[in-house]
Amino acid sequence: MEALVVYESLYGNTRKVAEAIAAGISSTDPGALVRVLRVDEVTPHDLSGGQLVVAGGPTHALRMSTAQSRRNAPDVPAAGHAQGPGGSDMGIREWLGTMPDASNGARAAAFDTRLAFPPSGGAARAIAKGMRRHGYKIAARPHGFVVRGARGPLRDGEEQAAREWGAALAREH
Ligand SMILES: Cc1cc2nc3c(=O)[nH]c(=O)nc-3n(C[C@H](O)[C@H](O)[C@H](O)COP(=O)(O)O)c2cc1C
Repeated sequence: MEALVVYESLYGNTRKVAEAIAAGISSTDPGALVRVLRVDEVTPHDLSGGQLVVAGGPTHALRMSTAQSRRNAPDVPAAGHAQGPGGSDMGIREWLGTMPDASNGARAAAFDTRLAFPPSGGAARAIAKGMRRHGYKIAARPHGFVVRGARGPLRDGEEQAAREWGAALAREH
C-alpha cells in the first residue's frame, strides 16, 4: 500500500501528529510506502497513485487556517511558514483548492489539531469535505487531536492516539 500524510503546522504539533499517523500505518503494514510531506512539498505527481491520502492542519478561528490567521499567529518559527508556488503563503485550505482530482480508488482521511475547550471548532471536517469534492472516498471519520495551548504541546496520549488512528486506517485499507 502507498500512503501520503500531508500536514500544515505552524508550531510543529500537527507535524508530530502526522508523523505518528505515518508510524501507525507502518505498524499495521510494514511493507507500506508511507511518506509525510509538508503541504507545500506535495506535487501533483505525489497524488497520482491510487493511494491513501491523509491530510491535516491546525484549527484557527474554529476552522481551517487562512493566510490572515497564519499572519496573526504569534512567534511562528521559520519551519512553520509554508510556501506555495510562486512563494505565496500556503496552508491546507489553499492546497485543497489546487489539488488534482483523485485517481481511481484513492481514499482519504482528515485530521486537525485543536484546543480541548469548547467551542474549539475544528478543521478536519472541512478538510475531508474538500478531498471528497476531489473524488476521494473518505475512509474514516475526521479526527481532532488535542493541544494544551496554541503553541502546544500535544496533550499527553495524543501521539499514541494518532498512531492508533493511523494503524486503524491501514487495517481498513
Ligand atoms: C490564530 C490562531 C487561532 C486559533 N484558533 C483556534 C480555535 O478557534 N480553536 C482551537 O481549538 N484552537 C485554535 N488555535 C490553536 C491551534 O489549534 C493550535 O495553535 C494548533 O493546534 C497548533 O498546531 P501547530 O503547532 O501544528 O500549528 C488557534 C491558534 C492560532 C495561532
